[in-house]
Amino acid sequence: MSAGALLERRFGVLGPRSPLFYDDPLQVVRGEGVWLYDAAGRRYLDAYNNVPHVGHCHPRVVDAICRQARTLNTHTRYLDETVVAYAERLLGLFAAPLNRVFFTCTGSEANELALRIARECTGHQGVITTSHAYHGNTAAVAEISSAFTRPEKRGQFTRTIPVIDPYRERGSRTDEELTAAYLEDARRAIDDLAAQGVGLAAILLCSAFSSEGLPAVPAGYLSGMAELARAAGGLFIADEVQAGFGRFGTGMWGYTCQRAQPDIVTLGKPMGNGHPLSAVITTAELMDAFTNASLYFNTFAGNQVSCAAGMAVLDVLHDEGLLDNARDVGTYLVDRLRLLQQTCPNIGDVRGNGLFIGVDIVADARSSRTPAVARQIVNGMRAQGVLVSRTGPADNVLKIRPPMPFSRANADQLAQTLGDVLKGVYH
Ligand SMILES: Cc1ncc(COP(=O)(O)O)c(C=O)c1O
Repeated sequence: MSAGALLERRFGVLGPRSPLFYDDPLQVVRGEGVWLYDAAGRRYLDAYNNVPHVGHCHPRVVDAICRQARTLNTHTRYLDETVVAYAERLLGLFAAPLNRVFFTCTGSEANELALRIARECTGHQGVITTSHAYHGNTAAVAEISSAFTRPEKRGQFTRTIPVIDPYRERGSRTDEELTAAYLEDARRAIDDLAAQGVGLAAILLCSAFSSEGLPAVPAGYLSGMAELARAAGGLFIADEVQAGFGRFGTGMWGYTCQRAQPDIVTLGKPMGNGHPLSAVITTAELMDAFTNASLYFNTFAGNQVSCAAGMAVLDVLHDEGLLDNARDVGTYLVDRLRLLQQTCPNIGDVRGNGLFIGVDIVADARSSRTPAVARQIVNGMRAQGVLVSRTGPADNVLKIRPPMPFSRANADQLAQTLGDVLKGVYH
């Protein structure tokens, strides 16, 4: 069947607004490591997908899923060692006092539960996020997901703070001065909630600021946010759905790069390498307070097959040294892209942590830093066999977030292709 015919069938059942990547949508039929293959057998370098965290169809994860699926799969209301062993292993990756886990199935569910815990335990309702955030698709989380929810649909308890953009806003300011200015935005939002008689339940931020365009966060920003939240009687929730599981290469969690101490951490996407598995990590105190007030049960979350997938992901991350790889290849790729920047005035900024890299596309870096929509570049790279995406309020930041086994050779191919495509787009 032709791609055009499949597209028509898809429109007929999923509707024409069900999101699809690329102007010429890609039909992939197989994945392996950092590669995706289309129906004609053409291979694409995957520099975008973080769900297949340890690589598409990693044999150890696939085997773990199959083995457990052949043995037993129920929910968590039976005693079972698989779930306990995985929870112990996972919690071993967090510093005190984060020592309890609720399993969930998606990032949205994890954030929904995090908000419920925050609201129950603080007795407050207000939530602060950024003005271009995405945290999920449930009713409560959609209200605060400002990237896709119009202001009038955000509800009376949501406040947003402007997306930070140090590349354009820093001027001659130091990190300390920039952070102090940015924290004022949060202070104003807290005051505004208070003026409306609404207490702060939580500040919720993605540790990578992925929807926000992957800004280079100044030192002290995230930890300052956590302190502000607690000083106002609220909690700080670190959304690690994108940043988590070692993507930054310097530790398992993005917030540790910023020395922030969250009260709640939410996990998702990479956790099961494609198997739906997510979690809320919190303290015993918050868990007890929440579960005293309401029972939390989730039929599919924490089932044995999910936990087997999650355990295999942790094994592979460790055994294949994938955090070190993220750090090494991430640094190498940033260097390559900065080299390209020297000859391409449309690359305004290259920034990143490990294998989470943003390339800020501008009309002309020499005369202005005006954002230029990156759509044509993303489509051009897809045509040349390299998959990336774009992000940020102005849709101008190339989002590079490949599976963790991405190699230096893969980085070379990506940089070479980007150079070629930029030449074509900007002549
Ligand atoms: C930062 C962040 N949080 C939460 C979510 C929601 O996760 P899910 O799509 O698994 O519900 C997403 C999804 O893109 C995300 O990027």
